[in-house]
Amino acid sequence: MSDAREQYTHGHHESVLRSHSWRTVENSAAYLLPYLAQGSSVLDVGSGPGTITVDLASRVQPAPVIGVDASAEVVAKAAVLGAAIDNVSFVTGDAYALPVDDHSVDVVHAHQVLQHVADPVAVLREFRRAVRHDGVAAARDVDYAAVAWYPLLPGLDRWMSVYRAVHRANGGEPDAGRRLKSWALEAGFTDVHATASVWCFSTSEDRDWWGGTWAIRALESGFASDALSLGLATADDLREISDAWLEWSQTPDATFIMPHGEIIARG
Ligand SMILES: C[S@@+](CC[C@H](N)C(=O)[O-])C[C@H]1O[C@@H](n2cnc3c(N)ncnc32)[C@H](O)[C@@H]1O
Repeated sequence: MSDAREQYTHGHHESVLRSHSWRTVENSAAYLLPYLAQGSSVLDVGSGPGTITVDLASRVQPAPVIGVDASAEVVAKAAVLGAAIDNVSFVTGDAYALPVDDHSVDVVHAHQVLQHVADPVAVLREFRRAVRHDGVAAARDVDYAAVAWYPLLPGLDRWMSVYRAVHRANGGEPDAGRRLKSWALEAGFTDVHATASVWCFSTSEDRDWWGGTWAIRALESGFASDALSLGLATADDLREISDAWLEWSQTPDATFIMPHGEIIARG
């Protein structure tokens, strides 16, 4: 593991897990579908609440799918979800030292993880060690510098600047999406295919969920406590950010657009 400070910015507060549990293969890993076959073994690194992992497992049955996450707390929650399907398991582990033999897994996948580690190239080198010679490593990460929203609320500008500062102070790279291909080539992969896709939140239901969870995350999650303890925001700033998210969620013509980079890496 890298010596640099590395801390997962969001933590695992209920509001964070409620946000992340919306994720499926279709909305978060569609670029991987052409490379998934029934019988492909999968390692889902930084599996979090496990909704993507379980969805992956349902698509490759009966091959084993293992979700690995550094947080024992979130692994225990994901295991409850995974009990519904035979070929998935969740283990506590480190992306820098995956619990598998060399070249033993068909697909090594990570969604929104490389942005949070201090040494993404070392993690991708570990993916290359784990993946079969004819397999693929796949990663998708947001690019915060490319995120756009409407209306142009000053509290959301404040959110973006505090969020990016906290993410960087925790050792991560908020603009990871654009860097994935470069990191994978540096890690030794010789064939890296880069694509991009976008989340867009705008319906009344999306706004309630996305704006509503961020209104709480701004006050109660790992992001909030880190922003305060690192001196990157005051309690008043966080209240302003939370209020802006509530206002955004209640604005009928509001939109939030989140571009992501994606890679399929081989060789
Ligand atoms: C943003 S969440 C993504 C969760 C899941 N992939 C998803 O998209 O729903 C990032 C996850 O990576 C985990 N994580 C961060 N650093 C890690 C590391 N070095 N090894 C394993 N997991 C890590 C965190 O605990 C967290 O659950």
